[in-house]
Order: sequence, then C-alpha cells, then structure tokens
Amino acid sequence: MTNTTLETKSSPNTNTGEAGSLQLTGISKSYGGGNGPLAVDNINLQIKSGEFLTLLGPSGCGKTTTLRMIAGFENPTAGELTLDGEDMIGLTPDKRPMAMVFQSYALFPHMSVYDNVAYGLKLLKMGKKQIEQEVNFALTSMSLLAFADRSPNQLSGGQQQRVALARALVMKPKVLLFDEPLSNLDAKLRVQMRTEIRRLQQKLGITSVYVTHDQDEAMSLSDRIVVMRHGKIEQLAPPRGGLPAAGVGLRGGFHRTGQLPRRRWFHCARYRRDSHGTGQRPRR
Ligand SMILES: Nc1ncnc2c1ncn2[C@@H]1O[C@H](COP(=O)(O)OP(=O)(O)OP(=O)(O)O)[C@@H](O)[C@H]1O
Ligand SMILES: [Mg+2]
Repeated sequence: MTNTTLETKSSPNTNTGEAGSLQLTGISKSYGGGNGPLAVDNINLQIKSGEFLTLLGPSGCGKTTTLRMIAGFENPTAGELTLDGEDMIGLTPDKRPMAMVFQSYALFPHMSVYDNVAYGLKLLKMGKKQIEQEVNFALTSMSLLAFADRSPNQLSGGQQQRVALARALVMKPKVLLFDEPLSNLDAKLRVQMRTEIRRLQQKLGITSVYVTHDQDEAMSLSDRIVVMRHGKIEQLAPPRGGLPAAGVGLRGGFHRTGQLPRRRWFHCARYRRDSHGTGQRPRR
C-alpha cells in the first residue's frame, strides 16, 4: 500500500451524523437461551459523545459480546442500553444509527469496492446521484478511488480494511464500533492504520467503541480504556496515569505490539516445544 492517509474534507451529505452518547446499565449476556454461563456480567458504562473508548482484555472476557450487544447483533439477557436517551433494546442492527468494522473486514466478495461502500446507502433508498457523490467522497477520503471497480479479493489487507472503514463512515453513524479491526495486518501497517483511525475519529468526532487485546493499541487510540476480565469491568481509566495496575496484570496475559499475532504465536510456541527448540515445524 503506497498511501494510507485518510483525507477528511467536507462530505456532500447533509445528513451529518452527530456523535451519540451511549449508556449501558446492568448489561449481562448468557448464551444458550440465557442458561449458559455469563459471557458479560452486569456491565455499567457511559460512553460520552465523541469519546474513543476501548474494551481491552484477554480472549473470552466478553469484549466482542459487549460490542455485538451495542450493535444489536446479540440481545442482552438483562440490562438497558440507550443512545442519547433512546432505548436501543429490541432494535435490529439496521435500525440503530451505528456502524461496525470487523476484524475479517466482512466485505461482500461478489461486489465491487464501489458497490460495497454504496450498499448501506441503497438500503436507505438514497437517490442514485447522491449515492454516487457520497461513495466517491468516501473513496477519495480513503485514497481508494482508483480501486472502485475492483473486487475485494484484488486488494491488499490494508486496502480491504480501508474499504470496510469507508463503508462504515459513509453511513454517518452516531457510533462507530470496531472489533479488532487491525489484527489481520502486519505490525507496521497496524501502527500506521491506528494513527489514521485516531486522526479520522478526532476530526469527525464520532463516538467510537474499539475492541482489542493489544495494550499498546489501546493506549495509543483511546480517551478511556475499559479493562475486562471474566465478563466484568475490572478497571476503567484514561490511557495515562490510571492504568499501571491493569498494566501489571496485562503483561502476563496480553500480547504487546511487536510480538506475533496471537494465533501465530501459539503456533510458534507449539513448534518450539514439539521440535525441541530447533524452531522447525514438527513432523506429523
Ligand atoms: N455464539 C456463542 N455461543 C456460545 N458462547 C459464546 C458465543 N460467542 C461467545 N461465546 C462465549 O462467550 C464468552 C465471551 O466471548 P467473546 O467472543 O465476547 O470474547 P472476546 O473477549 O471477544 O474474546 P476474543 O479476544 O477471543 O475475541 C466466551 O466464553 C465465549 O466462548
Ligand atoms: Mg472477540
């Protein structure tokens, strides 16, 4: 990828989404029809308008479940969720003024980049001319205009992630949700993209909830960090000053930037063990 700078000029869309304030009150989730163990256990959290808040914690602590409940992909077993005082519970994801960027990008493989970004606006029944304006604006902002006719599998990982971001931003959401959006990128691109995401978020002032298990990523992006463990909030603090206690805990259980991504790390650990320190892939 040659240019990862995300330009932000004024959008031609007059429906500029204002940043929203989210309130989670006593939110819990148990899968299996409410009979399973609590994946999220009594979360109380206010996310201020325009704030960048990160959910940080080890695998399985309930980060994605929390995010999916905010987005409306999962229903809480208990609790209340409001956006600017309006009850969100029971609203399907398309009825919530939010957009989500996934780790897997979740682009439609059979559609061009242009159609991927236009998809949500078509569902809103926006006029063709305005869709064209909006999509071209979003693609230009993400330095993607030259790729408009390509399909996602003809793009690099970083370019695909920018399409996913363009597709989210074009909807002018009140809240932007990110589930480990950078973990499929190499370390250098991850650092580049997180800088751009933060710059873009600050410029547009969109309320953002970001999930990661990378402590450095959380520290560099966030206004506040929620440390989760076993479905509960263990700590809530700004990135500087308030987190050393969590940091002590984090060093044991998290992966810091510069290390291999988790799955590969586990692979390597296994190979090291199985090959008695030779670093060779074990024979099957
Ligand atoms: N669809 C599901 N059905 C049953 N249990 C689930 C489902 N999704 C998640 N869980 C369980 O809920 C708990 C929280 O999962 P969740 O995906 O929210 O964790 P996470 O913090 O996002 O983890 P990771 O960092 O690995 O993505 C885990 O114990 C997980 O096994
Ligand atoms: Mg997750």
